[in-house]
Amino acid sequence: MTAEKPLVAITCTAPTNIAVIKYWGKRDEKLILPINSSLSVTLHQSQLKTTTTAAISRDFKEDRIWLNGKEEDMGHPRLQSCLREIRRLARKRRSGSDGDSVPLSYKVHIASVNDFPTAAGLASSAAGYACLVYTLAQLYGVESELSEVARQGSGSACRSMLGGFVQWHMGDRPDGKDSLAQQVAPESHWPELRVLVLVVSAEKKKVTSSSGMQTSVETSSLLKFRAESVVPGRLAEMARCIAERDFEGFGQLTMKDSNQFHATCLDTFPPICYLNDTSQQIMGLVHRFNAHYGKTKVAYTFDAGPNAVIFTLEETVDEFVTVIKQIFPPEMNGDRFLKGLPIRPAELSEELKSALAMEPSPGGIRYIITTQVGPGPQVLEDPQQQLLGPDGLPKLVS
Ligand code: DP6
Repeated sequence: MTAEKPLVAITCTAPTNIAVIKYWGKRDEKLILPINSSLSVTLHQSQLKTTTTAAISRDFKEDRIWLNGKEEDMGHPRLQSCLREIRRLARKRRSGSDGDSVPLSYKVHIASVNDFPTAAGLASSAAGYACLVYTLAQLYGVESELSEVARQGSGSACRSMLGGFVQWHMGDRPDGKDSLAQQVAPESHWPELRVLVLVVSAEKKKVTSSSGMQTSVETSSLLKFRAESVVPGRLAEMARCIAERDFEGFGQLTMKDSNQFHATCLDTFPPICYLNDTSQQIMGLVHRFNAHYGKTKVAYTFDAGPNAVIFTLEETVDEFVTVIKQIFPPEMNGDRFLKGLPIRPAELSEELKSALAMEPSPGGIRYIITTQVGPGPQVLEDPQQQLLGPDGLPKLVS
C-alpha cells in the first residue's frame, strides 16, 4: 500500500440555462464577446446540473481533466483561458498577503459530470464552464466577478453563474470587461413558472453553436438586423414581462425570439436547420393548444438542437404533459418517460382533443424533464460527493 498524499479538493454544482432572448453571433471569437445582449432562465439543479471536483496536490505532474469519466485534452483553448484567468485573479488577490491559500504552482486535476445528454442542445457547455469556473474560484479563493471568466469558456456559461432570470449585457469595450451577466430577478420571483424539457434526440448535434454562429455572422443579413434593430426592444419588453409576471407576454416573446433565431439559421449560407419534424410538431401543438384556450398558456423555445423547452404555469403543467404523452406515446421506457417534478395525469376534454387534431407519433419524444427556475452554482460540502478519489483520479462513474 502506498501512503496517500495530501490533496485539497472542492466540489461544486452549476445549473444550465435556457435563453428566452437568444445569443447568436460573436464580435470577438477569442474573448467570446457577443453581437447582442441576451436573457435567460436558470433551470433548477435538482433536475439538470453539472458537478465538478477540482483538486490540487504537490504530487500532480500536470493539469488534467476528465469529462463524464473520460480524460480530455487540457490544452483546449477555452479551458486554458478559464484556468489562466482564475490563476491570474488568484495571483492578483494574493499579492501582498500570504495567508494559507493553496499554492498556485501546484497542478490541478478536474473531474466533471453532467446529469443530462452532452451536446444535445441542452446547454451542457453552459453548465460545464460555469461549474468549472465556480469550482476553480472556490479552490483558489477568488471572489471577483466570475461571469466574465465563465464567458470565455462558453458565451452562454456566463448566464449560468447566477440563479433566476439573468441578462448577459453585451458590453462595448474591446477587452470585454463590461460583457457580464446580471440577475434581472431572483429564482423566488415567479414560483408558478414551470419548465419542461422535451428530449427529442440525444444525438450529438451536427453543427456546433460556435461554428454555426460564426457562419451566421459572416453570411446572414437577417442576423445583423436582428442584433441591431430587434433585440434591444425585445430585451426591454422581456424584462417588463418578467417583472410583472406577465405569462402571455413572456410566452409570446419567447416563441417569437426562438423562431427568429431559427430563421437566422436558415438565412445562414449554407443554411443550418436545428429543428426536426418532431420539433415542428411540438410547435404546431403549442399553437393549437393556445388557440383552443384563446390565450398563451404554453410557450416553446429551441436552442441549437431539436429538443424543445416549454414554459408554462403550474396550473397548466399536468394537462399539457398529459397532452404530450398522448400525442407522443413512449415507445419503450414507459415508466421512465416522466422525470423531475411529479406530474398528475389530467382529464382531457373532448373539445381539446379535437382542437389538437393530431395523429399520435409514438417515440417522437424520448422523455420529459419537468423542472422550474433555480439558483446559481453551489458548493457541495459532503466529501462523499467528490468525483476525485484520494489519489486524485476519478472515482468509478456509474
Ligand atoms: C442557441 O454559448 O454554446 O443556445 O459561446 O460559442 O460557446 P459559444 O456558444 P454557446 O451558444 C449558445 C447559443 C444558444 C442561444 C443562447 O443560449 O443564448
